[in-house]
This record gives sequence, C-alpha cells and structure tokens, in this order.
Amino acid sequence: MKRASRCARAYSIEELRQMAKRRLPKAIFDFFDGGAEDERALTANRNAYRRHGLVPHVLRDVTDVSLETKLLGTAAGMPLAVAPTGAAGFGWHKGDVAIARAAAGASVPYGLSTSATASIEEIAEAIPQGRKWFQAYILKDRSLTEKLIARADRAGYEALMITVDLPVGGKRERDFRNHFSIPFRFTPRNFLDFALHPRWSLPMLARGVPPMPNLIGLENASRDVKTLASSVGRNYDPSFDWEGLRRIRELWPGKMIVKGIVRASDAEKAARMGCDAIVVSKHGGRQLDAGYATLDALVPIVAALGSDLEIMVDGGVRRGSDIVVALALGAKAVLIGRPTLYGVCAGGEQGAIRAIDILRDELRRTMQLCGLSSIGEITPRLLEFD
Ligand code: FNR
Repeated sequence: MKRASRCARAYSIEELRQMAKRRLPKAIFDFFDGGAEDERALTANRNAYRRHGLVPHVLRDVTDVSLETKLLGTAAGMPLAVAPTGAAGFGWHKGDVAIARAAAGASVPYGLSTSATASIEEIAEAIPQGRKWFQAYILKDRSLTEKLIARADRAGYEALMITVDLPVGGKRERDFRNHFSIPFRFTPRNFLDFALHPRWSLPMLARGVPPMPNLIGLENASRDVKTLASSVGRNYDPSFDWEGLRRIRELWPGKMIVKGIVRASDAEKAARMGCDAIVVSKHGGRQLDAGYATLDALVPIVAALGSDLEIMVDGGVRRGSDIVVALALGAKAVLIGRPTLYGVCAGGEQGAIRAIDILRDELRRTMQLCGLSSIGEITPRLLEFD
C-alpha cells in the first residue's frame, strides 16, 4: 500500500506518531519526539490541555462554520501556524519542503528554522504564494545572523521570528543515550537500529545526510556538513539580550515575532520594543525542563497585555479541541511542531497534509459541538458553567 493512503488511515496525531515511530530508527524518532532532562515540560504542556473542559452552547445553527482568522493582519485558513523545527530532512527526504507545502496548501504560515535542512530561498521557491516566517537563532557570528535576516527579507518572508529560549542547548538525554549527534552518523553503535529500519535507512544511505544550508558560512565550520552541524550548538550566542533584540527590530522591516516568552514582564518589553507578536513557548519541552505548561504561562500574559500585541502559544497541541482551549484562554493562534513532523516522518508531504487535516477537522467538529460557527465566538465563557 502506498504511504499516502497509509497516512490517510491515521485518525489522530497520535496514530501518525505511532506510524513515524515504526518507520524511523529509535535514535531519529527520539530526537523528534523527546524533550530535555526528565521531560516534565513536555508532559506538563500536554497535560494542561486535559485539565480544561469545554462547556457547549446548544441549539444553535452550526451548519456553516468558518475557521478563518487573521494572523499578523493577514487572512489565515485557521488559527494555526507551523512552528520552526530543525532537521526535518533527517526524517524524510526534503521534509522541510514537504511541511512548507502542506502549510501553504492549508493557507497557514510556515516557520522555517535556521537549522532546517532547506535553505531560505528553496522554501521561497517551493511556496511562492505561501506565508513564510523565518526563525533566526542568534549566533555568536552576528554578521551571519544579519546576513540570514537580509536573505529572508529579499526572499519575501513576511515575518522574522526570534527564538529567545535557547541561549545554550537543552540537555536532551534520549539523544545522549542513543548516541545521536547532528547529523547522525552510521556507527557500529547505531548500526542495528538503522539496519532494522530499512525503509528509512536505505534511502538515507543512498542520498546521504541532508545538509543545513542556512548555516553554511558559520564561523569555525567548513562546508563539510558534519563539522558544520556539530558547530551549531556551540555557536548560539549566550550574550544576546534586549539591546540585541532592539538592534534586530531596527534591521528588520517586516513583522517581528518573539518566540519563547513565558513572563508577562518580558512580553511587555517586547511590545514596547515594537514587536508585533509573541509565541508563549518552551521550545516543545526541549530546553528548560520546567514543570509548568505554556498554557499556564499564557493566561497572565493575556491578562497583562490584552491586545497590545498578538499572543500565540505552542507546546502539546495534539487535538483540534486543544486549539479551542488555547483560543478560549486568549491565544490568537497555536503553533504546532511535532504534529507535522510526525506526519512527514510517517509519509512525507501526504503525512504532513494529513496532520493538518486531522487538526482542522477536529477543530471544526469541536466548534460545531460547542455551538460555534466562527473563530471570533471562541471566548473564555466556553470554559465555564453558568
Ligand atoms: C523544535 N523547535 C524549534 N524551535 C525553534 O525556534 N527553532 C528550531 O530550530 C526548533 N527545532 C525543533 C526541532 C524539533 C525536532 C522539535 C520537536 C522542536 C520547537 C518548536 O518550534 C515548537 O516550539 C515546539 O515543537 C512546539 O511544541 P510541540 O507542538 O512539538 O508540542
């Protein structure tokens, strides 16, 4: 059976996750799936959605439902964007392009990571009409970061996303235990793991390890992909601060999003600096392993900031009903990281499309079950009995 039709048989994000798990070597699956240290942040993000119940309105006409909304002032097919995730090409050949196409097809923004396995220009060519956000890491070589930002501007990216929760890399112990490095290497230690997953390893062996083209030129790194990628973590700039952010705000003419804020006081600073949006995010539990959820951090930020800037949230969204909960708590939209990664690892572009389709269908159905026919009708009242 073709993989496309296999993915069509996944009814939930969890089923796509299971498909990805079967196809990928353990070391690769764990890299995508895992979090830092005890994975408390990862678990907290997911569990937070389980704590909230939706209280429906009944006897309303919900024949026609619109999922459309505006993000950064532009129409979006639904209140969702694809979060930047590095290294999608380790899961599927041209995985980043596949996810970008799926996002464009659903009329939602696609976030391209600095450490993606596709270049800024390759994505711009793949989805000329699609909405593109470029996520920049701040590297010690600031001139390289500035060059990347200028390239994103030339290539027509609508927004610049600065990720601020990564002054250093998180401690991801699954990767240590699996002897996983970026890029992975075929070593005697992981040989059996790779040999047992020929559907993944044969094409990977034939095509070779995908490069991280945006990082070519990194100081102290040659063009050799191995040297290059292993240099990435060492090259984050831990001295990057608010003054540095102000400089970037001045450089970038378009919309600017700060990703990785969990405090209202930091959100206020970002708003004062002229940033257009923030993503309340803990990097999907891959950085600081703090045992609270992004959903909990969202509430005080929404209370403090109101409509001063657009507030999005990510981490643990696996159901359409999660999107309704996040919006009811005041988010403008959610970002998804792993759901489209699971999809692409399970079945390439068809799998990524399937992931978004599942969430869209669940969102529509949840809204109908709650008596809502437009995104604007999702309010905090939905979380309360009266
Ligand atoms: C990420 N994330 C991430 N964020 C970022 O700003 N730049 C990046 O390069 C990456 N890379 C990355 C790789 C992988 C494998 C994962 C799983 C995540 C974090 C990502 O943007 C997002 O914040 C989380 O993935 C959201 O959580 P969920 O949806 O995965 O639960």
